[in-house]
Amino acid sequence: MLFNNNHNYDDAVQVAPGIYWVGFYDKDAIFSCNPYLIIDEDEAILIDGGSLGHFPFVARKVFSIIEPQKIKALILHHMDPDLCAAMPLFQNIIGRKDLQVISHHRAALLISYYSQEKINFYYPEENGNIYKFSSGRTLRFIPAHYLHTPGTINTYDEKTKTLFSSDLFAAFTPKWELYADDSYFEKMKGFHENYMPSKEIMSRYLAKVKGLELDMICPQHGSVIFKNLINPSIEALEKFEYGKYLE
Ligand SMILES: [Fe+2]
Ligand SMILES: [Fe+2]
Repeated sequence: MLFNNNHNYDDAVQVAPGIYWVGFYDKDAIFSCNPYLIIDEDEAILIDGGSLGHFPFVARKVFSIIEPQKIKALILHHMDPDLCAAMPLFQNIIGRKDLQVISHHRAALLISYYSQEKINFYYPEENGNIYKFSSGRTLRFIPAHYLHTPGTINTYDEKTKTLFSSDLFAAFTPKWELYADDSYFEKMKGFHENYMPSKEIMSRYLAKVKGLELDMICPQHGSVIFKNLINPSIEALEKFEYGKYLE
């Protein structure tokens, strides 16, 4: 059920029609990791699939919803192990030679070190920053360079007006809930001020985000942000200080 935090999190949770949270709630972790699955008719894409430790939980949830061979692409928004390390295991279990890994070429350079297999990369920047399902449904890629790595991208699903924002709009949530509430802005503050380098870089990114029609933001850590909290979340990111490790 949408907007309801009363889940046991043992199963995938549908957060919008055809979009599933397929993460693992690690109660001992300071932050949660949130892989998502988009299903469009007979095709699916796994977003930021996760770490080695979380793989058994994530894989069980994903493959309880869809057969492995229906996954045609993995999106990796940047090169960190918390979202990339399970990639070779997914490559293996999906078993498609034509499986695509969607990432910016700057991130792909390092992502290739996770796998013993050749990776069939799809570079958004060489494809008009879009990806189309066979149905014509379009994903758009939003550059978010240096937030927090060069080569970071976000994904925008035109159909559901969802932004998959990777480490942006993320939060430290020792007591985690799937859906954000009013207390979420304060939780985002510590994460952003420590991870993100500068206000100038953040402003460029936020200018792009403000140009999107948004119903939902799905970050890789923290909680899913729904409509009424989206604008306040953007305003919060405008106000934070960045580059705290310089102090
Ligand atoms: Fe990261
Ligand atoms: Fe992350």
